Amino acid sequence: MAVKNLITFENVGLRYGLSPEVLKDINFQVNEGDFIFLGGESGAGKSSLLSLMNLSIAPSRGFLSILGQDVQNLNSKSIADIRRQVGIIFQDFRLINHLNIFDNIALPLIIENINKDEIALRVEEMLNWIGLKDYTDATPLSLSGGQQQRVAIARAIIKKPALILADEPTGSIDNKMAARILLMLEELNAQGMAVVFATHNSELLDGNKHKLALIKNKKLEVMR
Ligand SMILES: Nc1ncnc2c1ncn2[C@@H]1O[C@H](COP(=O)(O)OP(=O)(O)O)[C@@H](O)[C@H]1O
Ligand SMILES: [Mg+2]
Repeated sequence: MAVKNLITFENVGLRYGLSPEVLKDINFQVNEGDFIFLGGESGAGKSSLLSLMNLSIAPSRGFLSILGQDVQNLNSKSIADIRRQVGIIFQDFRLINHLNIFDNIALPLIIENINKDEIALRVEEMLNWIGLKDYTDATPLSLSGGQQQRVAIARAIIKKPALILADEPTGSIDNKMAARILLMLEELNAQGMAVVFATHNSELLDGNKHKLALIKNKKLEVMR
């Protein structure tokens, strides 16, 4: 069976407002099963590329399709449908600090009106997986950075998205926890979720076998 394409960029350029392009001539694909590192110095355009992939911004030129849909022809309902199938993880966690850990992880299910019993089951499964089952009632700011990032990952994947976009997910945590976060994302990839992992940490990029696409001089080059 053919591998399913999740994202295709063809000659995409991106500019903010009237400024010069920050990304040029991007040709790139993400397919089912991929685990791709996205490298590049700070300011190279990694977050911008991920923002294009999660429909936060639109290309200034070229063709971009996400989950089989041309992003030029999307209404707000299709945008919502696509985004529901994409899990996003950020460097700064972006948890809701006045909600407890349970509610933070449950949020994507609460929004979809899933019934309470099922939510309880699925959140418990997540809490076990991230090793934080004793922290149900804690609030995010009482946790370490590494713990908060595990909560953010649980929230991002509780609906089993087709694609996970991680923007410097290990940028605010120590090396040991960074290694654990990488292992968790590899485990999710083995379960069938595609992962795009942006980082400027060359140790991470050099130290593994995953595909690598590098942004340099506003262009994206597939390195391995
Ligand atoms: N919202 C924005 N408005 C204007 N310029 C931006 C915006 N976001 C990013 N940029 C610019 O785009 C370039 C790439 O930034 P970014 O995508 O954040 O890179 P990275 O994530 O690799 O550090 C930088 O020159 C940055 O200043
Ligand atoms: Mg960035």
